[in-house]
Amino acid sequence: MTGLNRQRIADWLQTEAKEQTISVSGWVRTKRGNKELAFIAINDGSTIHSLQVVAELNRFSDDLLKTVQTGCSIEVHGKLVASQGSGQAVELLAEKMEVLGEADPEKFPLQKKKHSLEFLREIAHLRPRTNTFGAILRIRHALAFAIHKYFNDRHFYYVHAPILTGSDAEGAGEMFRVSVLDPANPPRKEDQSVDFSQDFFGKEANLTVSGQLEAELAALALSRVYTFGPTFRAENSNTARHLAEFWMIEPEMAFFDLNDNMDLAEDFLKYLIRYALENCADDLAFLEKRQLEEESQLKKEERSAMSLTDKLKFVVENEFERLTYTIAVSILEKSGKKFEFPVKWGIDLQSEHERYLVEKHFKKPVILTNYPKEIKAFYMKQDEDGKTVRAMDVLFPGIGEIIGGSQREESYEKLSTRIDELGIHRDSLWWYLETRQFGTVQHSGFGLGFERLVLFVTGMSNIRDVIPFPRTPKNLEF
Ligand code: 4AD
Ligand code: MG
Repeated sequence: MTGLNRQRIADWLQTEAKEQTISVSGWVRTKRGNKELAFIAINDGSTIHSLQVVAELNRFSDDLLKTVQTGCSIEVHGKLVASQGSGQAVELLAEKMEVLGEADPEKFPLQKKKHSLEFLREIAHLRPRTNTFGAILRIRHALAFAIHKYFNDRHFYYVHAPILTGSDAEGAGEMFRVSVLDPANPPRKEDQSVDFSQDFFGKEANLTVSGQLEAELAALALSRVYTFGPTFRAENSNTARHLAEFWMIEPEMAFFDLNDNMDLAEDFLKYLIRYALENCADDLAFLEKRQLEEESQLKKEERSAMSLTDKLKFVVENEFERLTYTIAVSILEKSGKKFEFPVKWGIDLQSEHERYLVEKHFKKPVILTNYPKEIKAFYMKQDEDGKTVRAMDVLFPGIGEIIGGSQREESYEKLSTRIDELGIHRDSLWWYLETRQFGTVQHSGFGLGFERLVLFVTGMSNIRDVIPFPRTPKNLEF
C-alpha cells in the first residue's frame, strides 16, 4: 500500500500479530545481533516506539546487511508476529529488505550514544530523528491542534494578522526592519537621514511583534477572535526563554473585562495541558524518564520537586492564585530573599521574582494584575488611581511569564492622551484610534507564547529545543 493508505509503525504496533505479511519503511535507529540474527529497530516518526525487525542472516547477502546501519532508510517486507523478546508485543520477521538511502556510519552524526542538546542544536536538520525531538515535535503539533480546537469549539474566529507592519504594537522598539533599499547606498533626505519614502512600502516597515492590534479590529466586529502566527522581536536576550522568532496565540474578546480575561486564560491553559496528558501519554512518559535520568546527576536540592506528569497534573488540578502587582511586590519585599535585581514598587519584575512567587511562595501558577502603567504598553486600560493599568501576566513554574495580556483602553480620550504622553507616532495608529471613535466597547485579550507553553509541557529547559529551527542572536542556520 502506498500514500495515505500506507499503515504507519504506530498502527502496526497496536495490531494483533497473526503472521500477516506487511511492509514498513522508516529509518534505522539501531542494529544489534548475534551470529544468526540481526535485530533492527526502525522508526518512522509516527510514535516514540520503534518496530523491531528480526532478520535471519542467512536469508540476506552480506552486502545488504552491511548497508543496514543506524541512520539509513529502509523498507522491510515480512510477517508480523508476536514478539519472543520482552519490550514489545509484536515484531517483524524480515523476508525482503531494501536499503532506500544509505548512511555512512563514519559520517552520520547520530550514532547510538547519548548526545548533548547543545550538539543537537548544531545539527538541527537531523535532530528530528532522535527520540527526544520526535516526542517534542509530536507534542508541539498536538498543542497547536488543541489550540484551534479549543477556540473553534467556543466560537472564536481565527483571523490572520499581517506579518509586515508599519506600526510597533508593543511600543517597545524591538523590531526587525524590512527594507529593499541598498544598505550601502540608500537614498537620503536633505538632512542625510535615509529616505524611506523610496522604499518598497513608501515608509518604514518591520516584522510584527504582535498581532494584537489587528486582532482588536476584528474583535470589534466579530466579538471573539484569535490569531496564531509568527512574531518577531529584535531584543538581544540570550536566555533560555527568548527567541527572536516565536509563535504567539492572541485571543481578543469584545465585552470581556479583566476577570473574564483571566478566567479564559486559566481555562485555556488547563485545557491545553489536559489535552497533552490525554493525547501524548507515550511521548510525555519518554520525556519524564529522560528528565529523571538527566537529573540523577544533580544534587538532590537541584532536582525538580515533581516529575513531569505530576507537575502537569498539578497545574490542571489547582486554581491559579490571583493578586495585584502591588501585593506581589510587598510579598517579595518581605521575603527576606536577596534578589539579584532588588525589588521596589515600579520595577519590571524579573524572572527570579516571578519564579519566587510561583515556586516558593504560592507553589502554583499565579496571575498578577494591575501593573504600574510605566512598565506596560500604551493600549492597556487605565485604572482609576492613575498609576496602574488593567494588565495581567500569568506566571508558571520554571518558566516565569507564559501569558501577558490586559483589558484594553476603550476611551478615545484616554488612549489618545497616553499615545501623546509616550511620544508614539499617531500617524501609524490612526486606524486603531478610530475604533474608539466608532462604536467602542469594553474588550480584553492576551498573548500566549507558544514555545513557552511547549517548554512547560515537555519539561525541556531551553526554548531553543522546542522549536524546529530556533532564531536567536547570531544564529540563523538552517
Ligand atoms: O507580554 P507580551 O509582549 O504581550 C504581547 O505581545 C501582547 N500584544 C499580547 C496580547 O495582549 N495580545 O508577549 C506575550 C507572550 C509572553 O507572555 C511570552 O509567553 C511570549 O509572548 N514571549 C516570548 N516568547 C519567546 N521569545 C520571546 N522573545 C518572547 N517575548 C514574549
Ligand atoms: Mg509581557
